[in-house]
Amino acid sequence: MQSLRQFVISTLPRAVTGRYLSTTAALNMPIKEGDKLPDVDLFEGNPHNKVSTQALFGKGKSVIFAVPGAFTPTCSEKHAPGYIQNFAQLKEKGVQTVACIAVNDPFVMDAWGKSMGAETKVRMLADTAAAFTKKIDMAIDLTEILGGVRSRRYAMVVEDGVVKSIQAEPDNTGLACSAATDVMKLL
Ligand code: BEZ
Repeated sequence: MQSLRQFVISTLPRAVTGRYLSTTAALNMPIKEGDKLPDVDLFEGNPHNKVSTQALFGKGKSVIFAVPGAFTPTCSEKHAPGYIQNFAQLKEKGVQTVACIAVNDPFVMDAWGKSMGAETKVRMLADTAAAFTKKIDMAIDLTEILGGVRSRRYAMVVEDGVVKSIQAEPDNTGLACSAATDVMKLL
């Protein structure tokens, strides 16, 4: 029988499984090693709780991973759980903040985090209007399957607000280079 993951993949347009569609590619380049992270407000828990990327990632070592959507199969079964399970090892390697970013509303991000036991480990951050995701040129148009612009799947190591490494998945349903175990090799 077809698994849920296989079913989802079989329904995905080419934009998800292969080439991505950036809404901003004509204007920008995806953020890269050595770039300063833009200062953008994200939301944690509810729409009134703004947290700026500068306040979150401006000092110390952070790991950010981004996903196309809360509660989607790869994100929920593999990507986010890997960071939760390896949280202690990430801390041992000097990481102060581990954060998950998605273009979702903060209530959904909060509920998703709680459903996986992310509390006290991974900061579940909502980039509600995709402001951060568009600024770093990681937006992908998933209107057909998820209802709008979402984030590509990637992982970044940030030190004192500057990108030290970034791995973006070529296939947004796959997990070839942005898993916690991949990031840990770079720390
Ligand atoms: C996922 O399985 O994580 C996924 C599903 C649909 C669109 C993007 C990602």
